[in-house]
Amino acid sequence: RIALANELPGSEVIVVSNREPYIHNRDENGEMIVQRPASGLVSALEPVTRACGGTWIAHGSGTGDREAVDGNDRVMVPPSSPAYTLRRIWLTDEEQEGYYYGFANEGLWPLCHIAFVRPVFREPDWRMYQKVNERFAEAVVAEAKRPDPIVLIQDYHLALAPRMIRDRLPDATIITFWHIPWPNSETFGICPYKEEIIDGLLGSSILGFHTQFHCNNFIETVDRVIESRIDRESDSITLKGYEAFVRPYPISIEWPPAAMEGQKPVPEARKAVRKRLGLPEDVQLAVGIERFDYTKGILDRMHGVDALLTAHPELIGHFCFMQAAAPTRSKLANYKSLQEEAEALAREISERHGGPFDVIQLVARHHDPEEVFELFRAAELCIVSSLHDGMNLVAKEFVAARDDEQGVLILSAFAGASRELGEALIVNPYDAHAMGEAFYWALTMEASEQRERMRVMREQVEARNVYRWAGQMLLDAARLRKKQRIMRLI
Ligand code: F6P
Repeated sequence: RIALANELPGSEVIVVSNREPYIHNRDENGEMIVQRPASGLVSALEPVTRACGGTWIAHGSGTGDREAVDGNDRVMVPPSSPAYTLRRIWLTDEEQEGYYYGFANEGLWPLCHIAFVRPVFREPDWRMYQKVNERFAEAVVAEAKRPDPIVLIQDYHLALAPRMIRDRLPDATIITFWHIPWPNSETFGICPYKEEIIDGLLGSSILGFHTQFHCNNFIETVDRVIESRIDRESDSITLKGYEAFVRPYPISIEWPPAAMEGQKPVPEARKAVRKRLGLPEDVQLAVGIERFDYTKGILDRMHGVDALLTAHPELIGHFCFMQAAAPTRSKLANYKSLQEEAEALAREISERHGGPFDVIQLVARHHDPEEVFELFRAAELCIVSSLHDGMNLVAKEFVAARDDEQGVLILSAFAGASRELGEALIVNPYDAHAMGEAFYWALTMEASEQRERMRVMREQVEARNVYRWAGQMLLDAARLRKKQRIMRLI
């Protein structure tokens, strides 16, 4: 708010993403139910948009269709204290198949995550991706009240939109943030449409990644793929007369998180969660919470639990691992088979180790942020074992949930968050034995050491919260706009 008021007076902010920040649905009695989807992007952007106001353009994927919201394309959100307009785009099944399931999630997603799932590129999907990017760009132009809005474009679904918007609104300040990793140039070179993707992204004024490492990979890819002017000192790339700045902005969460409001004290949360899971009160609990995605290393952490119990059978009956996983992209074969494999593996490990309750409890459903925070507060440890992840906000949310300064975070070295949260137990998720040892270390760690580590991590997340993430991008945008105004006067 401060950045906007002081640096960007009279500016208009338009956020653009595939994911909608709220899902509107009706229950069986026709009552409107409003949910927040499981998405790091939404967790980060929602509080910022609430603070800035403006418009958020998104595909109404969870809401389904116009009828669900009485034919309204625009609705003010959040429902409890409306702060900005949510403008939905309704995609046809065919558009969603090609653009979202196909090109974005079978092509770009595995390509950028290097999770050893072969990316698939089909020409019809690509055409649909182009078409849907056009639809988003048109919506931005239609919603813009001024010729020079600040447009915040989110993620790999919309790589072509920056150029399309730039062509129509040359004075717009376009900030594009890529929420997933950017691989090295050899890997990205697999994409048959690499030139077009890069050209699309370079319509941005500022292009953000989570880490300097991903910025370097991007600049290197541009250098290999298209003819442009790269200024290594300012990390800027000029193409078609426009200069795009490539910058790292490590994404984060709001502080304090809204989901902390009204949370029970930790001892009560512990009791309530153990009762719900049918566990004795003194059981040590580990939690993992994410979308059911093959990049998250869900099977790998189960192998870690297996290694833990094989080395320490005395823990059987005293330890439980609860995995909450929100089904996602379930139309795709890789996602369906992951869920089946995870269920089978959880059963197999639980049966093999025996004991009075299932040692791995898999709950495959959506959890609201309040419920997630209660789980975090009830657990001895949280495990984030992504095989590759841009940042991973679950790690930061766990830290934010522990105002008692207890609890241990086990964190993959391949998640961007590991570069900031060095006090976590950093693991290689491909090494089940090492994960088993990290579990044991976490379960036996003294309270004083937990406090020391948690304190440092909490200070880090508090200081580098999501307002700082957005504020930094908006300040950079303000500086750019000022410079451009001066250049026009000269
Ligand atoms: O953070 C990466 C991301 O793909 C976001 O773009 C997205 O909102 C989130 O993960 C969840 O994925 P989906 O929207 O496909 O359920």
